[in-house]
Amino acid sequence: MSAADGRDDDAALVARALAARDLAYAPYSHFLVGVALVADDGTVFDGANVENASYGLSICAERNAVARMVLAGHRAIRAVYVATTTSPPATPCGMCRQTLLEFAPDPAAVRVVAVNPAGERAEWTLAALIPAGFTGAQLG
Ligand code: THU
Repeated sequence: MSAADGRDDDAALVARALAARDLAYAPYSHFLVGVALVADDGTVFDGANVENASYGLSICAERNAVARMVLAGHRAIRAVYVATTTSPPATPCGMCRQTLLEFAPDPAAVRVVAVNPAGERAEWTLAALIPAGFTGAQLG
């Protein structure tokens, strides 16, 4: 799902994140999150949160989408759409920001878009969401 000119189809990505949210498994928090993650070549990966009766094992939607991207052979993120029903739309948690950063060679170029079914949206760069983040480069 990528236009030939390299521009992402914003409306389609919003719809895809909202659809992924419907597939979330969140019987404990009842807080459903859906993601549409765009890899560097325009391939889109869905994600949704998957909770567990042992609450701490729950996996966020963003990290599920990243895992799917990696398993498909990609190593760089172009954009992440995150769908919730809150107003304003919720932003990725700190753990997910760090996970996204791992696959963001240029965090200032990665768009993070938060949306909800009411049509509200907010947008940042990943660099704005996790400034001065820790990366593998600092491991020496
Ligand atoms: N959650 C996500 O999926 N992504 C986030 O960035 C924030 C939190 C999930 C985890 C848990 O299943 C539920 O939302 C409530 O925290």
